Amino acid sequence: MCGIIGGISLSANAAATVYDGLLRLEYRGYDSAGISALDGGAITTVKRGGRVSALGKDAAALAGRAAIGHTRWATHGAPSDINAHPHNSGAFSLVHNGIIENYAELKAELVARGYSFASETDSEVIVKLIDDCFSGDFPAAVAAALRRLKGSFAVAVLYAGFDGVIVARYKSSLIVSGCKEGIFAASDVPALPADAENIFVLEDGDIAVITSGGVRFYDFYLNPVARVQRHIVRGEYDSDAGNYPHFMLKEICQDARTVADTAEAFSRSADLAAISSAVGDAEEIIITGCGTAYNAGLMARRYFEQAGKRHVRIEIASELRYYPPADCSRALVIAVSQSGETADTVEAVRLLKARGATIIAVTNCGYSAITRTADIVVPVCAGAEICVAATKSYLGQLVALRLISRARSALAEAEELVAVARKMPEVLACDEMSSLFADECAQSSAVFFLGRGADYDAAVEASLKLKEVSYIFSDAYPAGELKHGTLALVDESTLSVFVICQPLTAEKCINAVHEVLCRGGRVAVITDDDALAAQLVGIPVWKLPAVNSELSPLLAAVALQLTAYKAAVLLERNPDKPRNLAKSVTVE
Ligand code: AGP
Repeated sequence: MCGIIGGISLSANAAATVYDGLLRLEYRGYDSAGISALDGGAITTVKRGGRVSALGKDAAALAGRAAIGHTRWATHGAPSDINAHPHNSGAFSLVHNGIIENYAELKAELVARGYSFASETDSEVIVKLIDDCFSGDFPAAVAAALRRLKGSFAVAVLYAGFDGVIVARYKSSLIVSGCKEGIFAASDVPALPADAENIFVLEDGDIAVITSGGVRFYDFYLNPVARVQRHIVRGEYDSDAGNYPHFMLKEICQDARTVADTAEAFSRSADLAAISSAVGDAEEIIITGCGTAYNAGLMARRYFEQAGKRHVRIEIASELRYYPPADCSRALVIAVSQSGETADTVEAVRLLKARGATIIAVTNCGYSAITRTADIVVPVCAGAEICVAATKSYLGQLVALRLISRARSALAEAEELVAVARKMPEVLACDEMSSLFADECAQSSAVFFLGRGADYDAAVEASLKLKEVSYIFSDAYPAGELKHGTLALVDESTLSVFVICQPLTAEKCINAVHEVLCRGGRVAVITDDDALAAQLVGIPVWKLPAVNSELSPLLAAVALQLTAYKAAVLLERNPDKPRNLAKSVTVE
């Protein structure tokens, strides 16, 4: 996905606000960036491959009361100066987040009408189409062009003859807010000036016309629509790493607070009766999400099964979207999404809801697409998670899912979770051990994470975390599976990290440890079992505080996140902005 921002400034320098906003939107994509500013009836555009800061002095030279900006995660066309947004056509300039699925057809039509294209992007088609639809009325031209598009888009458009900005949304997030600087629209809250606390969330099919006189909302046929402002607590959107070298480390250090805040919020304000009956009435529970959110669902399936619920399944959202169950009328879908905007998850939820499912959304973003589709929203209280790799939000998701599975005893469950959170600082303080684990990973050609039961679920997430920030190949397997094939991959260049916190299967895991060691593979173990740790001489053993084995994966997660972070730093990666990735993928 990408980040867009645009608006009108009461001072004469909207570009400065847009530039600052883009810096805070880089977690959404960072392979190229650009800004257009309208000054005295003329649009000036600066754009190039690379980070937003590369626009530096050119952006500082821009002037004008209206401006738009973009930071990109490439979908069509390599990251380059020419593919960077904004894209221009005649007196129009546009930035876009999303994918236009019928761009080839539209491009051919426009080429046949004499338009030429500079970039390889799908987005450039939109601005050419607006130019082609224009016959004197800017909002009408935008609306006419948007009605031709298929796919997803959040756009901001400038026209040299219009003192303002037009923005629109279809399946890509966009919000609008007033502040003392002016009125700005953006993909997400962190981009807005700090005093922007009352936001309008655009719905799919909305156009907003922003001028110095205010903002007006319409549908794609320019019929006026009413949108309600909502107040947000900006403190949660603290997008400054402070004294930490990276957001990832800061956010790992917020794991414990996220657990406590999410548990407390659930106990205080969740509709326990509605959740209990939704869970109790469901013939089937389908948990869905992508990436880390999916991995939280893996653990949640166990929570529901341990709570006595049958017929619980976990589905990757991008699969569920295309292979849904025929009948969802008695199904409860629990959709997990940090951003609430992941297209695969949002579309899967929309489809199953249309087929009769009840939807519970577990999300860290209260004004997102998924919260508007869900019947019940259970918040993850992680605050802004800027690092592309999910860390504290994963812990918050586990807490929310655990409490949903045990809504009838939420208070007691919340207290137990908060007690586990109190042990997290002890894990974070294991600086020597986390550095040793990171060093072992960094030296390896491949790192395998292994465990049984809930420890395997924790291993799956650990593997994703390591590979996405360090670029080391990694995978996760049930420890019992090692001897059925994966053992062939083991040699002295590989590391096998065992998570052994489940008493039922601990001894069997030790067997697997020895299967690796006797074949020359390197091993490291994370466990909360003193006796087991004492057995393992000569290998790195990270001893965690002992807690209820159903909750020990929360402590293991902190250790494994810290390991991934330190391995990335050892290998001189940027843990906050890993290559090729973005924080929330709002395209399918
Ligand atoms: C996890 O570290 C990644 N950032 C990625 O897998 C992420 O979990 C996935 O894209 C889902 O995002 P969401 O939770 O915002 O839906």
